[in-house]
Amino acid sequence: MSEYQFETLSVHGGTDPDKSTGARSTPVHQSCAFVFKDSKHAADLFHLKDEGFIYSRINNPTVAALEDRLSTLEGGVGATCTASGLAASMLAFSAVMGTGDDFVSSCKIYGGTTSQFRDTFKRAFGWNCHFVDPTKADNFKAAITDKTKLLFVESMSNPEGAVIDLEKVARIAEDAGIPMIVDNTVATPYLCNPFDYGANVITHSTTKYLSGHGQSMGGAVIDGGSFDWMKYADKFPALGKADPSYDLVFAEAFPKNPLAVHNHAVGLRDLGMNQQAANAYYTLLGIETLHLRMERHSANALKVAQFLEQHDKVAWVNYAGLKSSRYHDLAKKYMRGGQCSALFTFGTKGGYEAAVKVVENARLFSHVANIGDTKSLIIHPASTTHSELHDDQKIAAGALPESIRLSVGVENADDLIADLDQALKSA
Ligand SMILES: Cc1ncc(COP(=O)(O)O)c(C=O)c1O
Repeated sequence: MSEYQFETLSVHGGTDPDKSTGARSTPVHQSCAFVFKDSKHAADLFHLKDEGFIYSRINNPTVAALEDRLSTLEGGVGATCTASGLAASMLAFSAVMGTGDDFVSSCKIYGGTTSQFRDTFKRAFGWNCHFVDPTKADNFKAAITDKTKLLFVESMSNPEGAVIDLEKVARIAEDAGIPMIVDNTVATPYLCNPFDYGANVITHSTTKYLSGHGQSMGGAVIDGGSFDWMKYADKFPALGKADPSYDLVFAEAFPKNPLAVHNHAVGLRDLGMNQQAANAYYTLLGIETLHLRMERHSANALKVAQFLEQHDKVAWVNYAGLKSSRYHDLAKKYMRGGQCSALFTFGTKGGYEAAVKVVENARLFSHVANIGDTKSLIIHPASTTHSELHDDQKIAAGALPESIRLSVGVENADDLIADLDQALKSA
């Protein structure tokens, strides 16, 4: 398959015609369990000596088709789908972190991820997060301790649309002998390929651009196959030391894709955040038009950002596609054709009061807590999606009192501009 271009892979990856029925569209395998051929087959599957389906908490044929497609599009060696994007970070970290370990995260990330890292990971699992400003890669280096097990960034951040210098951060992770995990949700594999720049693991909220129509929750962890878990076996015992329930060492038994196998055989088995087959089906459908949508999303976002930049009620616009953006050069390097997806913030001149009024005045833009829909969406992050953050964290993440976040859809750009114009004028 990988001899084909992205557009072809996004339509065909992981989905041959169904062998038993000839169905061209991937069937939704709405079954909790799968019949074993005999007792040996059952025992071999349970002991990871044979590949196949056991129980949908661990694996499912429709979800496996999506995993195959996502892994192909990202250039990975295997993927594991989850119930949501936050479940994906939970799953990815669970294989790497141990109680009392540290990790370093960009502070420019989705608010829900910030609170997961800051509060729940620490309280429930004893994983300590150190947040750093990602605009200076050396901040990651300075925050690494002998307990640090991973570095985490969003390739393009929510809500600010900050573009991270992936190569520099990856080099720091490599020097420290720890993996770099990249959330590629906002950029999508169509615009950015973090494995090409040294990332070891990619996470996604497939809820966003991948499913693309605001109808199915999901997440994914993709194994880049590039991290040498055996070399650092003492640091990463889940992959580099004998597993207590299977009589094997994952990195030895599955040298090509140990993390992907572990994430199913241990992660999903024990944490239980599997993706539903029906959601995987919708996400497979969505991905078939990802390349078309991301072109239109990005073109519309640029037109909207250019309009806002010259509007007399707008104080600033933060879109990496604009020449004025501090992230413009990084976007040209890391994003396909310098296209910058469709998530960005702008600030109103009237501060918080004006910002919330603009949100309320919008008619075509829907006021919802989501991104990556074909429909245009608008929200005031500081009082909603990023409200759990402390004041200094809000500022660091780009959720200022006057910030409005747009997720620009695929409608006619002139209609979107007219809607924002009336919302700003009447605020
Ligand atoms: C960049 C990013 N990562 C992860 C998530 C979490 O995804 P989910 O809502 O599917 O759990 C979000 C949600 O907005 C996000 O924007």
